[in-house]
Amino acid sequence: MSCAPGDPLDLTLLQGGLETRVFGRVGIEHFLTTGSTNDVAKEFAAGGALEGTLVIAESQSKGRGRLGRSWYSPPGTGLYFSIVLWPQMDLSLFPMITLLAGTAVAQAVEETTGLCPDIKWPNDLLLEGKKVAGILTELCGELNSPRVILGIGINTHTRKEEFPPELREIATSLSLSGARKVCRTKLLQSILGHLENWYDRFKRGESEAMLASWRKRCRMIGSWAKIESGEDIFSGRILDIDEDGSLLLQDEAGQVQKILSGEILGTAGHEE
Ligand code: BTN
Repeated sequence: MSCAPGDPLDLTLLQGGLETRVFGRVGIEHFLTTGSTNDVAKEFAAGGALEGTLVIAESQSKGRGRLGRSWYSPPGTGLYFSIVLWPQMDLSLFPMITLLAGTAVAQAVEETTGLCPDIKWPNDLLLEGKKVAGILTELCGELNSPRVILGIGINTHTRKEEFPPELREIATSLSLSGARKVCRTKLLQSILGHLENWYDRFKRGESEAMLASWRKRCRMIGSWAKIESGEDIFSGRILDIDEDGSLLLQDEAGQVQKILSGEILGTAGHEE
């Protein structure tokens, strides 16, 4: 696939080369601009959109991140999209969807640019220690059969001076981190392929290979870390992730804490 100058998203090329069954095939809604693709996807889900429906925007005016943060989403320099999922399974396993999405995006970045992002639990993709992509997984619909809206944002072409000052030292883009040629169409195609593969296996209860791939990409395993989870702050050594996607942290007394959700505030060192 050759990419045109300016890197426009080419949905015909995208669909022509998709190796998926449903993701990106059952419906694509493409907006020049919208508030948040997650919100639009929620509306489609409420209206009965099929699993795999893709909502993509060239820019977002109210792009959202985790923990009430906003997601910087200007036109032409990123990929912002959401997928409607209907996993029909135990709510406790939903954090796994964030993990499998992070793994899929990291694989696709590697495949299409040669760069190898680090994964920071639960959902950040980092290059050179700076955030290049994030994932926002939200539930909606009936409690007994909820839909999951999987939102993914990737900084593809942003130049340093284009980031707002508060993001300049903590965010990066694929091109800023050295990708020579970034093609959003190809990147999205690759993400959808990996995503559907891991998601199908997850639904069959086969997540071991995905977790192994995730662990390989999370260099923080073994490091000492400070983690904020709700009102609590935990410190300890990151041991692993559990089979449900939670983080296992060993404190100084040797106790292992299972952290279901939260954010790593900082890490130090690596113990073999
Ligand atoms: C995070 O790292 O905090 C998550 C960022 C998720 C951003 C994406 S962009 C597409 C989708 N729509 C949104 O409003 N947010 C997600």
